[in-house]
Amino acid sequence: MHIIAIDGPVGSGKSTVARLLARRSGYACLDTGAMYRAMGWKAYTTGAPLNEEDLERLCVNTKLEIELTNDKQRIVIDGKDITAEIRTPEISKMASVVSRFASVRVYLVRLQRDIGLDWAGRYGGVIVEGRDIGTVVFPDAPVKFYLDADIQERGRRRWEELRGKGLEVDLDETTKGIIKRDESDKGRSVDPLRKADDAIVIDTTGLALKDVVERMMKEIQQRSH
Ligand code: DC
Repeated sequence: MHIIAIDGPVGSGKSTVARLLARRSGYACLDTGAMYRAMGWKAYTTGAPLNEEDLERLCVNTKLEIELTNDKQRIVIDGKDITAEIRTPEISKMASVVSRFASVRVYLVRLQRDIGLDWAGRYGGVIVEGRDIGTVVFPDAPVKFYLDADIQERGRRRWEELRGKGLEVDLDETTKGIIKRDESDKGRSVDPLRKADDAIVIDTTGLALKDVVERMMKEIQQRSH
């Protein structure tokens, strides 16, 4: 049973490589950012006050399900499929806000461990991507990667991704938004974005993501012997 942790900031390429790696290996892929987005969406749509107590209550009264069909992850909250709705810039901001609260992190980390172990058993392995996977969620994962890239390239990647979804966004604004989210992700007091001591660091600036995947596959194969 294999658990592969992938961490890194927005636009480092981790979501894309996690998906490609899953396809190559046959493992399942768990995008934990989508789970913070789901709680951000719920806080946003219900107007829940943003404090530990109210957010804890919100989590307790939430049924969050991650469904995997044909290697696509769908997010279902309280029976409603919100997979597409959680990708807007507003929900990105809200996800970052709620991810600073310990009550939300405790709830989601527990769920991530349960789902990760379940999928690892069912699919022979699981690739889990996020910000604190190698440090908090699965600190004993046998293979950990930390992906990064320079800020201009990360801004451009996110901008292209959003435009690809038909959203009218400005490149400068997108890059500024990423800088803000970096500060928030790295600066929060609970489980900040941080490289695990034993993570393999890959700077993806200027690299084709398929080449990054090749390199990661080699590392995974080496470490599974
Ligand atoms: O990867 P993403 O952009 O979908 O993540 C959304 C937000 O969730 C981001 O601001 C960081 C936060 N997050 C986190 O705190 N811990 C994780 N394991 C994954 C995401």
